[in-house]
Amino acid sequence: LPSLASSEENFLQCLSEKIPGELLYTQSSSGFMSVLTASVQNARFATNATVRPACIVTASDVAHVQDAVRCGRRHGVRLRVRSGGHDYEGLSYRSVRAEVFAVLDLARLRAVRVRPGPGEASAWVDSGATLGELYYAIGMASPTLAFPGGACPTVGVGGYLSGGGIGLMMRKFGTGADNVLDAKIVNANGDLLDRAGMGEDLFWAIRGGGGESFGVVVSWKLKLSVVPRTVTVAKADMAFDETTAAVLAKWETFALRPFIPDLTIRAVVQGNRTVFQTLFLGSCSRLVGKMDAFFPELGTTAGDCREMSWVRAMAFITLSSSDINVPLEGMLNRTNNLGTYVKNKSDYVRCAVGKAGWESIYREHLSRNGALMMILEPHGGVVGSVIPDSFTPYPHRSGVLYNIQYVAFWWADGGAAEAANGGINGLYGFMEQKVSSNPREAFVNYRDLDIGQNVVGDNGVPTYESGRIWGEKYFMGNFHRLATVKGQVDPDDYFRNEQSIPPFLPV
Ligand code: FDA
Repeated sequence: LPSLASSEENFLQCLSEKIPGELLYTQSSSGFMSVLTASVQNARFATNATVRPACIVTASDVAHVQDAVRCGRRHGVRLRVRSGGHDYEGLSYRSVRAEVFAVLDLARLRAVRVRPGPGEASAWVDSGATLGELYYAIGMASPTLAFPGGACPTVGVGGYLSGGGIGLMMRKFGTGADNVLDAKIVNANGDLLDRAGMGEDLFWAIRGGGGESFGVVVSWKLKLSVVPRTVTVAKADMAFDETTAAVLAKWETFALRPFIPDLTIRAVVQGNRTVFQTLFLGSCSRLVGKMDAFFPELGTTAGDCREMSWVRAMAFITLSSSDINVPLEGMLNRTNNLGTYVKNKSDYVRCAVGKAGWESIYREHLSRNGALMMILEPHGGVVGSVIPDSFTPYPHRSGVLYNIQYVAFWWADGGAAEAANGGINGLYGFMEQKVSSNPREAFVNYRDLDIGQNVVGDNGVPTYESGRIWGEKYFMGNFHRLATVKGQVDPDDYFRNEQSIPPFLPV
């Protein structure tokens, strides 16, 4: 067998024969660290202990992606694919264990081509574009078109759609991945395939089966949705007390009934504050009428409303939340802020926690730790009751009230990390009795290595059983189909990380 050093050297030689030198960065290149950290979003993975890639390929053409895959396979060096770098465990640019690997960075592949019509409106978007770049391009093309994406403009389209993608309009239009019409993928042989070429099983798997597992998706064709010229945004910020606990308890059930998919109210609970963020696909007067009828406890009045176009609403919610004239160009800003250390976990709630439950969460955890946050994303509507659980790999639909994202922040390594991890683990443990069970569901886009990691078997391939431990939490009944697709398209497991889908290889 070739030594590690020679396989790495041969890999680098192979790359340098195919890809222009200015697109390749080895550890000895002067720009290596700035390119590596350009889209790192979490200070936890920007330390000297982080296992870094041997090189970074900043592909500017799909042919470079194909060359990188072919060189990597030929010389036994794996690629970690990076679009926006937001992976919560940093798996797009680091390895948990010592390993020689390369980062295939797609940030230069970020064109967005919007086709407003005639006929069904759609857009082809490259994986390296951010959600902000996508929203901006849609907003510039039409004031009445939209895409149901997430609330952070710097998230990469590649990772977001690979994990399903939830957001403020999924109650009306489904998840991001539910709205993918076609895609182009570079598979483990380096071939470029569209939907017809890859077949329906692989096309199903890449729309939410998690990043890295099946190949490098280089671009996506998205269905764009029609929205009113004016949408309404409202916000209520409440100090935590008995009334707030009661409002949260009402909010939990409101997510499923009544059926008002045009209305989404997301709740963010941190320290002693609870913020309800509302996006309504209609006018302020209609919103106030619906709130009076179905959710008077929130006390929404016309004075709380701000009417604007959809793209401005996305900028307002994600960039400012106070200035409705915030420049839309802010959504094109890809600059990261590497000051914060973050740990995330997730849950799904199927039975309401109730007023007493919220009081205990506040009393035992949130009131004691101001750097712990819970983001509650309502389901129901179209995502919960119209689209089947197996339509894409995202299974958390029928019967789900909402998703919980737990976030712990800290600002320095050492003792602060221990306290923050203790805080989030304590809250996660406390929530066990209140959230879904068998399996305790989790969202793959909120990646959490604590729920399990692959174990490589004697044949050099991760075992199906080790994958089931974390995989059924993310994908429930869809996990087996994902593993079967993986077994068909990448049985040698070239595309791999600590939580990639293991190949199911029937004996
Ligand atoms: P990154 O580049 O780190 O990739 C993530 C994973 O996908 C990695 O395993 C990577 O290898 C793989 N991958 C990336 N590009 C690929 C490609 N082209 N082909 C194949 N595999 C690829 N999520 C959500 O659903 N709704 C939300 O509202 C938010 N909000 C949010 C806010 C903030 C501040 C953060 C940090 C994260 C979110 N997320 C989210 C989670 C986010 O969607 C998730 O982390 C995505 O995987 C990030 O995609 P990136 O391309 O940025 O990540």
